Amino acid sequence: MKIAVVGTGYVGLVTGTCFAEVGIDVTCIDIDQKKIDNLKQGILPIYEPGLEEMVSRNVEKGRLHFSTSLAESIHDADVAFIAVGTPPGEDGSADLKYVLAVARGIGEHMNSYGVIVTKSTVPVGTAAKVRAEIEKALEKRGENIDFDVASNPEFLKEGAAIDDFLKPDRIVVGVASERAEEVMTKLYKPFLLNGHPIIFMDIPSAEMTKYAANSMLATKISFMNDIANLCEIMGADVNKVRQGIGSDARIGTKFIYPGIGYGGSCFPKDVKALIKTAAENGYDMQVLKAVENVNEAQKSVLFDKVNKHFGGDLQGKKMAIWGLSFKPKTDDMREAPSLVIIERLLEAGCTVSAYDPVAIKEAKHTLGDRITYAKDQFEALIDADALLIVTEWPEFRSPNFEVLGRLMKQKAIFDGRNIYDAKELSEVGFTYHCIGIRANHKEPVVQA
Ligand code: UDX
Repeated sequence: MKIAVVGTGYVGLVTGTCFAEVGIDVTCIDIDQKKIDNLKQGILPIYEPGLEEMVSRNVEKGRLHFSTSLAESIHDADVAFIAVGTPPGEDGSADLKYVLAVARGIGEHMNSYGVIVTKSTVPVGTAAKVRAEIEKALEKRGENIDFDVASNPEFLKEGAAIDDFLKPDRIVVGVASERAEEVMTKLYKPFLLNGHPIIFMDIPSAEMTKYAANSMLATKISFMNDIANLCEIMGADVNKVRQGIGSDARIGTKFIYPGIGYGGSCFPKDVKALIKTAAENGYDMQVLKAVENVNEAQKSVLFDKVNKHFGGDLQGKKMAIWGLSFKPKTDDMREAPSLVIIERLLEAGCTVSAYDPVAIKEAKHTLGDRITYAKDQFEALIDADALLIVTEWPEFRSPNFEVLGRLMKQKAIFDGRNIYDAKELSEVGFTYHCIGIRANHKEPVVQA
């Protein structure tokens, strides 16, 4: 089999490389010449654990190719994936101009049957627009080539994308013909060995599945953040409540960790887009609107705790920040809660010294020299009035608190990810604030 993957962003690159890994001939295409030149030399535009080695290995084996020419790569491909960006427009809806431009390009250059698959997260109805765009281009050429469109949403988590791709929980594919179903079954066969299913459905349902999955996960997080804030008011401990509810299999233990709000390239964008699609079709997504509002508010919760602790006077205070990316194991800064927290701290007159194991380069694009960047996690702490845990990188989990105490001006930790033990910290003289547990509390205020 031969496939083309258009768009070498996060989704396209992981998709193309993982297909090459199982022996399929893959060409990844991008209009950005510099990106393609870099990829040919093994330089990746993103950080994802294990991906660099996998790209190099498959390029060496001659299974993975990079090109700027859609024309050359498309004409003998059995399957073409569209994995270009769908940035949110001003009004929150997904902008389809890149997706449709690729569809047009495919129509202009294809010369035999192929399945054109949307991999980017696109609103319900997009595959139909892709089909129309390709038909229009073929008509212009006076060609009558048979083709199918399909929708195959991705469920990759940044930081764990390779594993998610190679050992998926499920593969969802929307098709409108048996022929397309056969091609997609053959393509995904190597990934189904762990017994997890490939679920075929109609195209609109597949398109909706992606939004529903991400919106459900975002809902779990906002719900838990709401509960955490209430726990704090009532004197309950959200960590215990989380364990208490998570052991009910209907609820489950995953995605119920309270924190400082979800970020990243998917949840915020997809929640907004689904609210918008619904509104355009005369339906009001009340739950999701609340999910979004809670998330926005949650990004300020850590700042509010800092501000309250210092009696509303943060002028000239030095804040150390551990973690900038929206979650560990990625350098992705898109919609990262760190950006809101830092903005609030700077507005209040603080200086900020931040450390992140991989995201500093990305962070500099947005934050520039408004903050300082430490070369290790301890340098960030020198003379700091407080430490804020913003991203739960593994290396932050078990520091030597004696050393922290010696480096910092004041022993105060504000933990946005609940990674420390309040008792242990109070024993070494730290003031400790986290999410959903009242600071330094001993007994619940509401007695049974
Ligand atoms: C997500 C989906 O998980 C994935 O299936 C989809 O294809 C793309 O979007 P990703 O954006 O990589 O993946 O991150 P994820 O690990 O899902 O975390 C998203 C955000 O939720 C992060 O900001 C994280 O900190 C937050 N989160 C997650 C919580 O606050 N609490 C949790 O319990 C879990």
